[in-house]
Amino acid sequence: MPSVFVFSSNKGGVGKTTSTINFGAALARAGKKVVLVDLDPQSNLTRGVGLENPERTLYGALLKEYPLKVYPTTQENLFVVAGSAALSSFEKVKGDELDREYLLKELLAPMVQRCDFVLLDCPPALGLLTINAYTCAHYLCVPTEAQLYAMEGLKKALDLVQRVQRRLNPSLQVAGILLTRYNRHKVLHREMAEVLRTGYPDLLLESVIRESISLGEAPHVGESIFVHQPQSAGAQDYQAMATEMLTRLSAA
Ligand SMILES: Nc1ncnc2c1ncn2[C@@H]1O[C@H](COP(=O)(O)OP(=O)(O)OP(=O)(O)O)[C@@H](O)[C@H]1O
Ligand SMILES: [Mg+2]
Repeated sequence: MPSVFVFSSNKGGVGKTTSTINFGAALARAGKKVVLVDLDPQSNLTRGVGLENPERTLYGALLKEYPLKVYPTTQENLFVVAGSAALSSFEKVKGDELDREYLLKELLAPMVQRCDFVLLDCPPALGLLTINAYTCAHYLCVPTEAQLYAMEGLKKALDLVQRVQRRLNPSLQVAGILLTRYNRHKVLHREMAEVLRTGYPDLLLESVIRESISLGEAPHVGESIFVHQPQSAGAQDYQAMATEMLTRLSAA
């Protein structure tokens, strides 16, 4: 059965895109067919996997200008549906349609059937695009930094899950909260990690993504961490996170 993951938090810069790319890359290395979908007008994911100015984007496909285009990346088994700045018009253009929350689900459905994993990278907002992503996903992963504002982003994402479960997608589950950009030498980070562990004992993943220079560099060379610096802390952390996530899914 294919699994659709959404990576979301309305806090910016917490590692949604980095986690989508590198979780996806870890799964692809394990032989799974993975499609990353860039829902963010910033299109950081698209550029982060080395795709520059793609002709066919998610937005054009959502507007039925052309069929959905899935591009290959430099990594075997890892594919991408490109984002574009035009996605910022989605809510204005489609916001009045009766089935507005289901447009992404309908568009992706045939592709989902041909994959093992589809990973949706959301913008830092809980608008119509993100609601579309929650509506078509099986699992939510919330990356969060160990600081107060990121925790608020986490709470808002979890509240949205409950609303979506009631109205749009009863089968959406929270797969995990992922602590990112973690520095164990910072007292604040250790304290915030403890707050999360106490507040969300079942949801917080044991794997933590450390702050690391090579994770910041990888998108600039258009590669996942496993190609850019396979021996780095970042590669180890995302490999551990992917293993933990798969173990959780198979135990559920
Ligand atoms: N563990 C890490 N160590 C060092 N740098 C990181 C780490 N994770 C992410 N970064 C860097 O931090 C910045 C923000 O990360 P990322 O783009 O993944 O966050 P985001 O939540 O997707 O942001 P946005 O909300 O703007 O979409 C990027 O420059 C990224 O390369
Ligand atoms: Mg992002």
